Order: sequence, then C-alpha cells, then structure tokens
Amino acid sequence: MLFRQLFDQVSSTYTYLLADERTREAVLVDPVFEEHARDAALIRELDLRLCYTIDTHCHADHVTGAWLMKVALGSKIGLSGHYGATNVDVPLAHGHTLRFGHCALEVRETPGHTGGCLSLIAEDGKTAFTGDALLVRGAGRTDFQQGDARQLFRSIRDQLLSLPDECFVYPGHDYSGRTVSTIGEERLHNPRIGGGAREEDFVGYMENLGLPHPKQLTIAVPANLRAGQPESGTVPAAPDWGPLVMTYAGLPEVQPEWVASHLDSVHVLDVRSPAEFDGELGRIDGAALIPLEELRARASEVRDDKPVVIVCQTGKRSGLATVILRKAGLTRVANIAGGMVRWRQLGLSS
Ligand SMILES: [Fe+2]
Repeated sequence: MLFRQLFDQVSSTYTYLLADERTREAVLVDPVFEEHARDAALIRELDLRLCYTIDTHCHADHVTGAWLMKVALGSKIGLSGHYGATNVDVPLAHGHTLRFGHCALEVRETPGHTGGCLSLIAEDGKTAFTGDALLVRGAGRTDFQQGDARQLFRSIRDQLLSLPDECFVYPGHDYSGRTVSTIGEERLHNPRIGGGAREEDFVGYMENLGLPHPKQLTIAVPANLRAGQPESGTVPAAPDWGPLVMTYAGLPEVQPEWVASHLDSVHVLDVRSPAEFDGELGRIDGAALIPLEELRARASEVRDDKPVVIVCQTGKRSGLATVILRKAGLTRVANIAGGMVRWRQLGLSS
C-alpha cells in the first residue's frame, strides 16, 4: 500500500494518503481545506485516482477539504452518519469496510472526543488511523461537541488497545512533532490511559486539562457539517488569468501549449544565460532575458502589467525564478512546465 503522511502547520493536523500501488485507487484521510491544492497536486503527480475522502470526525479546529476534493477529483465523501452532515456520500458506521483497489480499511466507532469519532484500521491489522481518539501519548479532549471522557476511555480500551502491540498508531494531530507510535507503546506509556489506568484515572485527567476554547470552533463545526462546502456554495476563486496548476513542490505552472496560444496576453521572461538565449534551442517570440543569477537584483525590471511566465532550458531555473518574483511581490507569475526543451518537443513556434 502506498502511504504518505502530510502535515498542516496551522492546525497541526495530519492528513494521510493511502493507495493501492497497482490499481492507483486512493483514499485521503482527514484532508484540510487550506491544503487542498497541495494534496490534489500530490495525487495528480503520483497518478492516483481518489475514490474517497474520509473524515475521522467533525473537526472543531480546521475545515475539511473533503468537498473541495470531491469537486476537483470526483471522490466520495465519507463521515460518520452520527452527525447527519450534508454532502456526505458514504455515511460510515462501525463494521463498515472501505475498499480501494485491493486494499481496505475497517471502520471502528471510537466516540468520546465527539459523538461520531471513527478510527480506521488497515485490513492487515498493522496500521490504525485513530483520529482524535488516541493520540501519541495523549487522547482527544472531551470538553466540547458531545465529548464524554468515560465513553472515550471505553472506545480506546475496547477498540484500539485491543489491537496487536505492533500495530502502528497514526494520530489525527500532534503538537510536538511526533508522527507515529504503536499500540504496545501507548498501552505502556500513554500518560492518560497507559500503564493500566482505570476509568476514574482517565476521567479525572480529562476533566482537569483546562484547555483554552478552540478558536476555530464556531467556524469549523458548521462548515464541517457541510463536509467543508463553503457557505457561498462555490469553490474559492482560482487565479483567473490562465490554467495554473500548483505543483506539490508549491510552484505555479502553466503548460507550454497555453503560453504559445496566449503570447499577446503574457510577458515571457527567459532566465537562461545570454549564450543559451541565442543558442540552438532558440527562444520564445518576444521573451525578455534576465539570467537567473541577476534576477534578485533586477526584479524591478520585470513588467507586471500582464502575467509573467518564465522559461529556462527544462523548467528548473525558471521554477526558482518564479519563487524569486513572488517574493519580490509579483502575484501573477508562473513557470512554463518543461522549459525550452519541452517547447521544442511540442514543435511550438518561436
Ligand atoms: Fe478533533
């Protein structure tokens, strides 16, 4: 199974991408609204077909990216049926099996942090995605959204600590850089529920955490009850000047064919050396030349009355040039994918 662990720094949320390496069918667990472009780029670059997004619960600290993923990639939205949320295609419940290619996830209800919390267990029993029920050396808070410390204690004890010791635990969040644990490790060392803690110990601990109220609660919960569909009902506006694609590396790119048919509506900036500019690959008609090593000092020379598309030999130096110009304050700027080599391969004119 292909496996990627992604992190959102703002909410300290982990998002997990799982896929059958043969059939390329994929599942995304707990996507974050603001990380949608990053996640979509990775799915595209790995040549995966996203079948489902699954939210382990209705989050209070971030808005899910589930609805955006569905609009962009046609994935189905999975969430516990407990919440009665709108836009949910697969209302999940205990015992449900989600299949993607030859892989599968077993759904276990692990309420307590919220009433509809789910954990997902890989079919081989070696990996558990525990959402905010069991965290690395912690457990999800139980002081809002129908939280119930007694219920969480039983969920963790009966549904998670009953898994084999060697089963990996991938949590929904971590605030200290811990990425993974195991059931055996948490059974011994989890300060809330490990070491044979009794229900009263756990409840006493959870009821005295004294955590601040989550700032996003009033925004996130209503949005998540729509599976992350914005209140306007529409996708947030994308750059309107061209078919930009954000790569997983975080670079805005345009395809050379689009540039070739829109030369009048963009400025082309070539960042190769003067010798390459006059060399065998030729140049794009009307391109201005500023070699990459001079670009930081000469960024103010770049005209911004039209969007700027940047080219080099293969698209690497121009990728860095894109970053430099964005830092210099240009907003409408993109890298031409594949550079002059690709431009020539496609037989585009210059
Ligand atoms: Fe949560």
